[in-house]
Amino acid sequence: MSDIKHDALLSPVGVRNLQAKNRIWMAPLTRSRATMPGNVPNEMMAEYYRQRSGAGVIIAEATPVTPWGHGYYATPGIHSDKQVEGWKPVTDAVHSRGGKIVLQLWHVGRVSNSALLPGNGQPVSSTDVISESMSYIDDTWTRAKNTAPRKLETDEIPGIVEEFRDGAQRAKDAGFDGVEIHGANSYLLDQFVRDGVNKRDDIYGGSIENRIRFPLMVADAVADVWKDEDGGASRVGYRISPLSEHKDVRDSDPEAVFRALAAGLGQRRLGFLHSVETWDRSTIDPRVATVLPAIVKSFKDAGGGLYIGNGDYTPEQADNAIVNGWADAIAFGKLWIPNPDLEKRIAMDGPYRKPEPETFYGGGAEGYINFEPLEVGASS
Ligand SMILES: Cc1cc2nc3c(=O)[nH]c(=O)nc-3n(C[C@H](O)[C@H](O)[C@H](O)COP(=O)(O)O)c2cc1C
Repeated sequence: MSDIKHDALLSPVGVRNLQAKNRIWMAPLTRSRATMPGNVPNEMMAEYYRQRSGAGVIIAEATPVTPWGHGYYATPGIHSDKQVEGWKPVTDAVHSRGGKIVLQLWHVGRVSNSALLPGNGQPVSSTDVISESMSYIDDTWTRAKNTAPRKLETDEIPGIVEEFRDGAQRAKDAGFDGVEIHGANSYLLDQFVRDGVNKRDDIYGGSIENRIRFPLMVADAVADVWKDEDGGASRVGYRISPLSEHKDVRDSDPEAVFRALAAGLGQRRLGFLHSVETWDRSTIDPRVATVLPAIVKSFKDAGGGLYIGNGDYTPEQADNAIVNGWADAIAFGKLWIPNPDLEKRIAMDGPYRKPEPETFYGGGAEGYINFEPLEVGASS
């Protein structure tokens, strides 16, 4: 072990109940391999996560809390008993290897298509303006345009909060170590936070306080389910992507709105805040350098736990981020896909296999669970 290069990444990190054996986390990755119909997790998924249980914490793929929250074909859900049963072998597999796994709770909002929704209904959102995204709607794996959404009525919001509460409870029943609320990447909660898309004139639109109201109601409900003995919520995280912008999914003042949101999450003593800083470090928005630390400071000053950085990090950049105090841990995404023993490879300074985008979504074992570990026996 004398030639270990990435000491900082390999050191443990923890906040109260979510202690991790290293700072190399696995970012949530939609792989669209749930059993259809029913969006049920399966044995192949258990094997996939088992292989990656050397991560400090695995943040499992985005998982809708309601049938109305699906926006892509074959994504697993956490809204039926069958899905809870399907997740249990996944959490057991990770725990049997001494790993930790939290579930990302999801509602896509307008990023959907009627073909995926109950009764071929309309997606819901803060707005009735259509999303420019495309999504997979069946096993032909061709992308279809989103369907125009229906603007949620003011009195419908508490019902969606309850769906997040139910999802959080089901995640607990399924044996997860915690949950991450998906507030990033232009899905439902983001559709309320950012003023480029939220033009509402009720208590969920307009002022910053109003736009973060729904996300904080969700945080309250989820934290209530996962409450620590001391009243905190150290097993609950929240994901943001404050500077990722696409068409109307942007904010006129991202620093102000995400600082306010982060402070609210910190007051609830969430265990971690997780940010997609960029998808491509070579074209990173220069505002990240100042806006992100301000958001993290708001979270921590208010009582929040760890900051988890993400976005196109190399192990070298990640190690520097830890050493420089930028982040407490780094979540790698794509790198985990062809490198199921990533933490071992980082300890040995590589080599790393390159991700193969053609097998990211859908399909079977190929590109999913067929990657050999670095050394025979190293990850079995
Ligand atoms: C195949 C794939 C699936 C993804 N699925 C999710 C997801 O379910 N939830 C989420 O918040 N982000 C998702 N992302 C974004 C990643 O978590 C991460 O933010 C992004 O890939 C940048 O980090 P990386 O360069 O380390 O992969 C996905 C990205 C990829 C490539």
